[in-house]
Amino acid sequence: MAEDLATLQIEALEALDQAADDRALEAWRAGYLGRSGRLTRVLRSLGSIPAEERRAAGAAANKAKTGLEAALAQKEDSLRQAALERDLAEGAFDVTLPGKPVAIGRLHPVTQTVREICDAFVAMGFSVVEGPEVELDYYNFEALNIPREHPARDMWDTIWVSPEGPMAENPILLRTHTSPMQVRVMEQTRPPVRVVVPGKVYRYEATDATHESMFYQIEGLAVDEGISMADLKGTLYDLARRLFGEERRIRFRCDYFPFVEPGVDMSIDCFNCKGAGCRTCKNSGWIEILGAGMVHPDVLRRVGYDPDVYTGFAFGMGPERIAMLRHGIDDIRLFYSNDLRFLKQF
Ligand code: DAH
Repeated sequence: MAEDLATLQIEALEALDQAADDRALEAWRAGYLGRSGRLTRVLRSLGSIPAEERRAAGAAANKAKTGLEAALAQKEDSLRQAALERDLAEGAFDVTLPGKPVAIGRLHPVTQTVREICDAFVAMGFSVVEGPEVELDYYNFEALNIPREHPARDMWDTIWVSPEGPMAENPILLRTHTSPMQVRVMEQTRPPVRVVVPGKVYRYEATDATHESMFYQIEGLAVDEGISMADLKGTLYDLARRLFGEERRIRFRCDYFPFVEPGVDMSIDCFNCKGAGCRTCKNSGWIEILGAGMVHPDVLRRVGYDPDVYTGFAFGMGPERIAMLRHGIDDIRLFYSNDLRFLKQF
């Protein structure tokens, strides 16, 4: 009996040494210490040996049991430790390696220009408002003195939303300019009015270097008692100097827009050649940057403003064109072709 135990212990410890994972450990435990394990069987057989030997045999068997249990616990520990070390070694990374650079986005050059222009007007006391891009014929044309069949409609090649186009009962279109917001703002407020309206506009037009079918405009409107052409000139003069330099001169010439009277277009002296003539100003020394005028009395009357009391000025400009002039960009399509090599320059 004593000899059996010693062999069993040696065998058991050798087998335990070979066990390499949890499953092998469990098999080992069942094989020696389980209900019908080899050591358990020895313990059970104690009853059948002579009484005088039983005491010593029992003590030896129990000692063997404690020894094997301790060896098992130790083995479990060392397997766990080895697994942990393996995990750590596999998941290790070098914290001193340089990371992948994160590409930082930026504002689109047109957005930058729109914001800069709006900021200039906010500094002069204007508020910034926005309006719908899908617009009623009424606001885009009728309320701006451009009735159906009026030849001035040819100035705006229109994308119609109504299938019947302008012949629909209540025609809907993509706004061709931001001027309809003049009417919407005046309908909803009493003078004094001072707003700028940035936003997208749409034209049914073939695209080329200077034309897009979608582009931005910034509309301006100021209405109050006693507003005159001098206020228009002073305001836009300030803008031109902020955008194109302190020494800018401006020139107004008569132009026609049905919703202003008088209507003008405004040019600045060429910031590139200082008026001598170059490519930027097409050798004229002047660069046209916007349309403007004094709000037509009929437009005021239509929104319930008394034109004998109130007068106002309005203007509209294209921020893409202004960005092109300032940055020397020669093709408007670059703005909307999403070429990062172009966009990253701003
Ligand atoms: N809406 C005009 C256009 O798209 C530009 C314009 C001209 C706006 C004169 C104005 C203005 O407010 O007074 O061609």
